[in-house]
Amino acid sequence: MDDCPLWRAGGMKVEQQNKGDVLILAVETSCDETAASVVKNGREVLSNVIYTQIALHTRYGGVVPEIASRKHIEKINQVIEEALGQAAVTLQDITAIAVTYGPGLVGALLVGVAEAKAISFASGIPLVGVHHISGHISANYIEYPELEPPFVCLVASGGHSHLVVVKDYGVYEIIGRTRDDAAGEAFDKVARAIGLGYPGGPKIDRLSREGNPEAVSFPRARVAENQYDFSFSGLKSAVLNYLNSCRMKGEEINQADVAASFQKAVIDVLVEHSLHAVKEFGYDRFAIAGGVASNSSLRAALEEQCAAAGIRFYHPSPALCTDNAAMIGAAGYYEFKKGVRHGYDLNAVPNLRLGE
Ligand code: KG4
Ligand code: ZN
Repeated sequence: MDDCPLWRAGGMKVEQQNKGDVLILAVETSCDETAASVVKNGREVLSNVIYTQIALHTRYGGVVPEIASRKHIEKINQVIEEALGQAAVTLQDITAIAVTYGPGLVGALLVGVAEAKAISFASGIPLVGVHHISGHISANYIEYPELEPPFVCLVASGGHSHLVVVKDYGVYEIIGRTRDDAAGEAFDKVARAIGLGYPGGPKIDRLSREGNPEAVSFPRARVAENQYDFSFSGLKSAVLNYLNSCRMKGEEINQADVAASFQKAVIDVLVEHSLHAVKEFGYDRFAIAGGVASNSSLRAALEEQCAAAGIRFYHPSPALCTDNAAMIGAAGYYEFKKGVRHGYDLNAVPNLRLGE
């Protein structure tokens, strides 16, 4: 074990930490980022290393699961070593290992879970499995050290659009969810349709700044049975129909106008549902999480509306909104404090539900 670089890397003396400090080594491999981080006491990020595979998947127009898994295997040891090194600690300083075990791509998740289990087994450091979305929500604890539950959180990522009441650390009540496509998925599909390619969200965000959000009238879907639920597939179809009809009529498509009009339609619904939920459920604090939460127009709209309604608005910096391991370290800390420990039978659960 003494030969293992994970024990030798860095070199922060244990004495330099306070005795009661909890240092979490966090691992995240649920999609196309290989990430590791060391987080102190749930809120202080000592390192946050992300190896992004975006360039590898771009030529295929989206994440190819098999390529993602293989790249995770190649990169995971190096990323963990770097995370320990940048934090100037060794495994001997680590209190617990937190790892995303779902939801996500099964092959991708398995790499992180197997790695975390192997390190835990070899070192005796306790293992804590973390829900990916709980991680996204917990990014807010890093950015806002004073933030404590309860509050309402909008989670908008590539796979999820949830409105959640965060009742306590790791305790969630989902009050709204998407009936079909997630918000990020809609961004990615529409970006592909208008020829922007992958990853769609950031590209639409950028291009929309040059477009007119009122240029094309796209629908704002309501779900009759639950006022907080979302549905984005109708909007996606409306964009595709608009593009087709322009092509059939030989009309030129203004990419920036379509991007801006689509983005406005998504944002209007996200903002309206969120503000409504915060008020109806009687909270005065509202947070955002997930890749779509890094969208500049969404952040601006929520900032304005929350200020007008006297609601405190929490928005992690964009780098903490998209996938990273620091957020898993924050969520893992609160699970660890609650006494959650996982055994070596921990498995990847691709469709893990929040609250399970
Ligand atoms: O949370 P995340 O990094 O991964 C998942 O857990 O899914 O979210 C990725 C999603 C992608 O669909 C991506 O297009 C979207 O977040 N996204 C954005 C922006 N940045 C990333 N969507 C809109 N505007 C952005 N700036
Ligand atoms: Zn994510």
